[in-house]
Amino acid sequence: MIISVLNDNIPHEGYRNGWGLSLFIESGGLKILFDTGPDGEILKYNAEKMGIDIDSVDFIFISHNHWDHTGGLGAIKNRNVRVYVPQISEEMEKAGFRQIKLDTWHNITDDIISTGSIENPKIPEQALVIRESSRIFLFVGCSHPGIWKIVKNVYAKYGKLFFIMGGFHSPPLSDIRDLMEYTEYIGPCHCSGDETKVFFKNNYPERYIEIMTGKVLKF
Ligand SMILES: [Fe+2]
Ligand SMILES: [Fe+2]
Repeated sequence: MIISVLNDNIPHEGYRNGWGLSLFIESGGLKILFDTGPDGEILKYNAEKMGIDIDSVDFIFISHNHWDHTGGLGAIKNRNVRVYVPQISEEMEKAGFRQIKLDTWHNITDDIISTGSIENPKIPEQALVIRESSRIFLFVGCSHPGIWKIVKNVYAKYGKLFFIMGGFHSPPLSDIRDLMEYTEYIGPCHCSGDETKVFFKNNYPERYIEIMTGKVLKF
């Protein structure tokens, strides 16, 4: 598993960035674009800098239809690529993207799974689960349904997680206090909030992974 952070709120010298999230994930021979950040120019610039061809992805996974996750889609030239979404977007339709709406748990491959929308009818949001042998990775966009709720649902199906990464949406501490019982490593980023990051960094320094634009994680 290689995770390249194409955009996070935290900048890094030599890269462009904005408020949003975009990850390029390589697993089991497949290339996945998880969200696209706020802006196509940023996505293009950072991808080129990291030596990533965003038009070579096998599919795009959109966690939810907020601009800071879909804003970079315009940079994708290959409009034939599958785009898994929790909600059909007219804008994407007009741009000629091939959207596939997932409402509930769905196996994209044997080991790449969408949670479907989890209990938030106002803002449909899906999370991405990837299994690599016994390791379970969980990627979240903004966690509008609640990070706790998402983790609980994934844990109930797959058992202990290996790594949780993404935006946690500044949850109250009471919501995340026990999260490390469910995972080995944690990488809160994007909208997770300083309080969340500091909590994990201070209490679990060896299991906390700091995320910023331009970072590459290999497992
Ligand atoms: Fe967000
Ligand atoms: Fe959001």
